[in-house]
Parts: sequence; C-alpha cells; structure tokens
Amino acid sequence: MSKKILITGGAGFIGSHVVRLFVTKYPEYNIINLDALTYAGNLENLKDIEDNSNYFFERINILDAEAINNVFEKHGITDVIHLAAESHVDRSILSPLDFVYTNIIGTVNLLNTAKAKWAANFSNHIFYHVSTDEVYGALGDTGFFTETTSYHPNSPYSASKASSDHFVRAYAETYHLQTKISNCSNNYGPNHFPEKLIPLFINNIINKKPLPVYGDGKYTRDWLFVKDHAIAIDTVFHKGEVNETYNIGGFNEWKNIDLIKLLCTLMDEKLGRQAGESEQLITYVKDRPGHDRRYAIDATKINTKLGWKPSVTFEQGLSLTIDWYLQNTEWLQHVTSGAYQNYYNEMYSNR
Ligand code: NAD
Ligand code: TYD
Repeated sequence: MSKKILITGGAGFIGSHVVRLFVTKYPEYNIINLDALTYAGNLENLKDIEDNSNYFFERINILDAEAINNVFEKHGITDVIHLAAESHVDRSILSPLDFVYTNIIGTVNLLNTAKAKWAANFSNHIFYHVSTDEVYGALGDTGFFTETTSYHPNSPYSASKASSDHFVRAYAETYHLQTKISNCSNNYGPNHFPEKLIPLFINNIINKKPLPVYGDGKYTRDWLFVKDHAIAIDTVFHKGEVNETYNIGGFNEWKNIDLIKLLCTLMDEKLGRQAGESEQLITYVKDRPGHDRRYAIDATKINTKLGWKPSVTFEQGLSLTIDWYLQNTEWLQHVTSGAYQNYYNEMYSNR
C-alpha cells in the first residue's frame, strides 16, 4: 500500500535523517515533514532531498490542533512517525513549561487527530512515537534498561517524554489506536545542534574555547550513531509488533570524560594540532541539577526479534561526525549565531 507518512520534527537532528531515509528508500510513499522550525529545526538539513517529488514540508506547530487536522486532510495521512519535541535537558531545567506544551500537549493533539481521522479502520494505520531511554531514570554502576523497566524520569525533559509515552499507550488501550514506541539512547552524528555534548565540544575545540565538563565527568551515556537510529526507526515502523515498545541502543557506554578525551585526540589529529592540545581546554564546571548518573540500553529485543544492529562502531561514527562538522562550517556558523549566543551566555556564564 502506498503510505502517506507524517514525520513530525523532520527538520531537527534525528528527524532529518529519518525523513531522508524514508524519502529515498520508499519513493512509493509520500513523506510529509511537519515542523515548527524552532531554534532546533533547520531546513538546511534536508537541502539534498527537498526537490524530491514524494517530499512535502508543512511549517506547523503541533500545539495548533486545527492546522494538524488540515494537514491530515490535505495529504490523506495514513501513518505518523512523531519526533517533534523540545529535546535538551538543560533547556528543560531553565523552562519546563515549554516541554509540557510541546512534548505532552503537542503529542496529545497529534493523537487526537489520528484517532479522529483513522476511526473507520484503525488497523490500516500506525502512530509511531519516538522516545528516549531517559524516561527510565538513572542506573547505578551495573544493569541495563529493558522494555519492562519502570519509568522514573528525573528531569523536566524526561518527565515530559514519559508523560507523552503514557498518553500513546493510553490511546492504544482506550481507543484502539495502533501504536509503536521506541526508547533510544543518546544519539550523535551530522546535523546535531551544538548545545548537546558532542557537537558543542566539537565546535568549542574548533574555536579553542573551554570544554565545560559537568561535575566529575564520570557520568555515563550509551551512544548511537544517528543514521543507525534512523534505520532502527524504519525497522520498527515496518516490522515491529503493534502496541509494543522497543529499546534502541548499541551497547556503547562511555564515561563523559573518556569520550571527551577521545574526541580531543581525534580532533587534534584531524586539525593538525599537537597531541594533547585540545585536552588543555577541558574545564570542570558546576554540575547539572538532577544529573542522571548512567544510562545503558539493553537492546536484546530489537536485536533478536527484528534483526536490527548498529552498522558502525563508535570510533567510525565519531570520525564521520567530526569530518562532517569540519566540512560544514557554514552550517555550524548559521546555527550558532543570534539566539544561540544568548542561550550559551545564559547557560555557561555562571558555571
Ligand atoms: P531536535 O531538538 O534536534 O529536533 C526537534 C525538532 O522538533 C526540531 O526540528 C523542532 O523545530 C521541532 N519542534 C519542536 N517543537 C515543535 C513544535 N511545537 N511543533 C512542531 N515542531 C516542533 O531533537 P532530536 O534530537 O532530533 O530528537 C528528536 C526526537 O527523538 C525527540 O522526540 C527526542 O525526545 C527523541 N530522542 C532524542 C535522542 C537524542 O539523543 N537526541 C535520543 C532518544 C530520543
Ligand atoms: P547531553 O548531550 O545534553 O545529553 P543528555 O543530557 O540528554 O544525556 O549531555 C550528555 C552528557 O554530557 C550528560 O552527562 C551531560 C554532559 N554535558 C557536559 O558535561 N557538559 C556540557 O556542556 C553538556 C551540554 C553536557
């Protein structure tokens, strides 16, 4: 069947990789990218596919229920892959309500429209909600998040994502909407907005600016290359069981400080700087409040049931990522001007 898939947040980091994958891999589908173009949304991310005949863009805020309704009608939407969100933990600490509006109310707006439009035959339609491992809270030194780990969100960001996951489940139970949810670990790769650890530090290393390490630097994250996440989303969308959750990750845990040192080494080599030069930029700063100690995904279910595994190692992915940023300095300049400067000053001046 020829699908007409609404991908929300398609101008953002992960969304743009998902849009590109679907537009190029499935020419028989129409892909409708719905995005409000907040500070994190950037159509430059999709320049290479914007003229494809199966690609459409709608600049809409998911808080606008009427506009969502119109897009469903205009394009005859058959399925939704929902990525639009406020996504940065530090921003959620500064202004939690933005996260409540977009991540919770925006998600419920989309669910309501899907419910209303698909009521005649729910079995032909999928509402796929893309979520995060942060809903599970923090791990100690051992153990992994599985699909049955109970939710324990610690930041306004993760609390809002947890809430949206619950609404998606509730719409499946209550109204028989066919849903899928995936909870993925930290992503990295091209087009990542430079407020998150890896792109921020790449940008600061390029510009020889301090590298602000929160707390003792021994916080642990489980990193996945963004293109592998996009492939996992394709896999879950097409092969995953209806009303199931899949955890997505690459069994790739790094303590922040070890990752940062690897990044410094690789960047010194690529920039032709002296070994050890970028490490001098490391600066320990005040910790993030409520900072989750460790995340680690048990991806056994998606590995064994759907046959998905990451295609690149961390060293390969990180090298590709650095190369992309070094080759796309214009992209970096565009997104780090204006409003970004204000955010950066507010975030880091008192640390
Ligand atoms: P991002 O911040 O880079 O992009 C978010 C996109 O959503 C932007 O294009 C933005 O313009 C759009 N958007 C924001 N508010 C909107 C609104 N009210 N209406 C319409 N569009 C709006 O985020 P990302 O890192 O690409 O994350 C995408 C999704 O994946 C999010 O749901 C996030 O929770 C989830 N996720 C992210 C990670 C990660 O490491 N980045 C890991 C797991 C899950
Ligand atoms: P981040 O990329 O914000 O992702 P998340 O908080 O969603 O996991 O941060 C990744 C890790 O890096 C996290 O432990 C916080 C830490 N961090 C710093 O030490 N310094 C920074 O400037 C930033 C942005 C993050």
